[in-house]
Amino acid sequence: MQTTLTDSAEEAAAILKSGRVVAFPTETVYGLGASIYCPEAIMRVFQAKGRPGDNPLIVHIYSLEQLADVAGEINSDAWKLIDRFFPGPLTLVLKKNPLVPDTVTGGLGTVGVRCPANPVAREFLRLSACPVAAPSANLSGLPSATSWEAVFEDLDGKIDCVLRGNPSAIGLESTIVDCSGSKPLLLRAGAITFEQLQAVVPEIAANTSPDKQAPPKSPGLKYPHYAPKAAITLCHGDEKRIEAPSSAYIGLSEPPEGILLYKLCRNLEEYGSELFSFFRHCDSKGIDTIYCELPSNQGLGRAIRDRLMRAAGKK
Ligand code: TXA
Ligand code: MG
Repeated sequence: MQTTLTDSAEEAAAILKSGRVVAFPTETVYGLGASIYCPEAIMRVFQAKGRPGDNPLIVHIYSLEQLADVAGEINSDAWKLIDRFFPGPLTLVLKKNPLVPDTVTGGLGTVGVRCPANPVAREFLRLSACPVAAPSANLSGLPSATSWEAVFEDLDGKIDCVLRGNPSAIGLESTIVDCSGSKPLLLRAGAITFEQLQAVVPEIAANTSPDKQAPPKSPGLKYPHYAPKAAITLCHGDEKRIEAPSSAYIGLSEPPEGILLYKLCRNLEEYGSELFSFFRHCDSKGIDTIYCELPSNQGLGRAIRDRLMRAAGKK
């Protein structure tokens, strides 16, 4: 299959509306979109990524008017979060409208809904004129794609179109909050921090010690994630020298000596936006081990820690 590269949101939306599969930029990571009303295209999203069919897709909307097309009853906490954070890097898990196909939600009674803020994403969603189901546009298990080049590297020949935009400003997937129960629950940390959420819905809980026996609240969390080919070693920024040949480092503290390649980040925002592209860069250079400094669990540090622990197979 020929994958069309385009800068035109209009061309990309026309391809999506003809029942095909289109990758598009968002402020978090690139998404791989299909109309929720086109079962064949939804199936091809799972195939192109090599994604297990029980892992539900997030549904992307352009405006709040589309909420009723995808969600059922919306409680007052969910409305508070919508008022404060939509459009933006937040996904809410809500009771679903029965018209959303089970193939999109992995058979769950809930649906993940996100309204991105990135202007190219918004133009694409507006012109698509339907809710768009989109997981991250990467091969399942690999780091998410934060540039159109990374999407192309993973999915060239497997999808119909890549809508080119700038590299993703945030670089980490959206914060996910489950609002389908009696009290909000943080399922995945992201750029909207736990502290910011608490300021709006003080009773929010974090899904920190999931009961291994219970079905996972977010099916995707049980699969391996974000892992580059290189091994990930977590460190605390106090290593002076590393003897392993062919190793790399990313973090906020000065890199240890003996490192082949490093990314020194000025702050957590830069750490988040560079993390996945650095993983991919290391793989392209044949690096064996990437040393990653674990930030504290505050603010954006929570999301970076989460991705690092998963990439290291510790979560
Ligand atoms: O920033 C993002 O969220 C990006 C962009 C493209 O929007 N999307 C993204 O999708 O990261 P994906 O499929 O890579 O991750 C979505 C996660 C998965 O872990 C999935 O299991 C979970 O969201 N999820 C989706 N619908 C859910 C639902 N109804 N209940 C619980 N978890 C859900
Ligand atoms: Mg993903």
